Amino acid sequence: MSIERLVRKELHGPGRRSATRRSGPPDPEMISLAAGDPNFLLPKYIADTINQAILDGYTHYMFGGDPQLKVEAAKYYSKYGYKTMPSQVSLTNGGSSSIFQAYAAILDPGDEVVAFDPAYSGGTMVPAYFGAKIVYAPLVKDDTGMYDFDEEELKKKINSKTKALYVENPGNPSGKVYGEKECKIIADLAVDHDFIVVSDETYTEFVWTGEDHFPIITLPGMENRTIVTMALTKMFSWAGMRTGWTISGPELAPYVGRAPGGGLSWPIQKGAIKALQDGYQFVLNMRKEYEERIEYTAKRLNEMPGIKCPKPQGAFYMFPCIEDTSMTSMEFCQKLVEEQKVRAIPGASYGAGNGEGNVRFSLIRPLSNTTMPSWFEHKKGYMLEDAMDRIEKFVLSHA
Ligand SMILES: Cc1ncc(COP(=O)(O)O)c(C=O)c1O
Repeated sequence: MSIERLVRKELHGPGRRSATRRSGPPDPEMISLAAGDPNFLLPKYIADTINQAILDGYTHYMFGGDPQLKVEAAKYYSKYGYKTMPSQVSLTNGGSSSIFQAYAAILDPGDEVVAFDPAYSGGTMVPAYFGAKIVYAPLVKDDTGMYDFDEEELKKKINSKTKALYVENPGNPSGKVYGEKECKIIADLAVDHDFIVVSDETYTEFVWTGEDHFPIITLPGMENRTIVTMALTKMFSWAGMRTGWTISGPELAPYVGRAPGGGLSWPIQKGAIKALQDGYQFVLNMRKEYEERIEYTAKRLNEMPGIKCPKPQGAFYMFPCIEDTSMTSMEFCQKLVEEQKVRAIPGASYGAGNGEGNVRFSLIRPLSNTTMPSWFEHKKGYMLEDAMDRIEKFVLSHA
């Protein structure tokens, strides 16, 4: 009997494991800059709120989600200049579920979804489950190693089958921020060609351009043509607590709300309400630390031979160009793990491979001057400076 005959073809093959990950127990000497799982320990008052909610009996079904969390999420998003009603919010258990819900609401077999390349894989793997196809529009790499938007490349990929465009703003791994100018180009295409924009706004708190995040949903014709996906995962260092939502226009929202987005734990929802009401200083503190980490790692990486490292416009990933080391991104990451025990993600593993030549380092390790506690011990030899020392040693040994 062939098990593969019985399971979906998207699940065949070796599976989607990081190329540099090994089975077995975690290696205590490893410094992982692979996952986008922030290190910050949540403020105690949020944990206390969750504990108290359990003791108070918020341990039952809460069909449709806690109405107060919808109020807080709507209030939160309104700060970007789009007056959002709680009825436009649909709660999900994390950003991946928000993306799933968005696609579940709109895709039919035969549809096409355009995504930029490189793109966050969680946004590009799902359409196949609905019989839809992903079509990649390459971002173009400039002289600094930074990936940028290219209107002509995008236009080439749009046709009568295009049902949606998936765009992460800010981008992961590209670090690209799509401001008003790019959003207008995308919005005009969406209106002219009648498709939806799945606008993944997971990193809106981490925009480094000095300008505010620009919400594409505010552009003419876009209100009922945009599904915004969000999560507390990065915004509140909340990855394991699985809390997210979608926001869409008043006509679209009832349909999106009917599509599956997972159920949230009620005590966690109580914690999320508290975080959105009282937790903003925590976000500001994290932001300050990320900015310091970006400054520091950009300087260190740019000093290494063969590495060009642009600063990201948004999010907290460094995506340096390693082409001049003469290694592929996969070789670079595999050898880096073997020789120096630092884990990173090859650029080629995002999208259709247009990220080749770059490597993603997630800035989830603190600098040694950190003032914020992490959920792991801050040990000498394992801080961000140490990770950069190890990478430098690796690059020099291959120069
Ligand atoms: C762009 C983007 N969207 C969505 C997610 C998913 O987040 P979650 O862990 O909440 O599912 C991530 C996580 O890395 C991401 O980078």
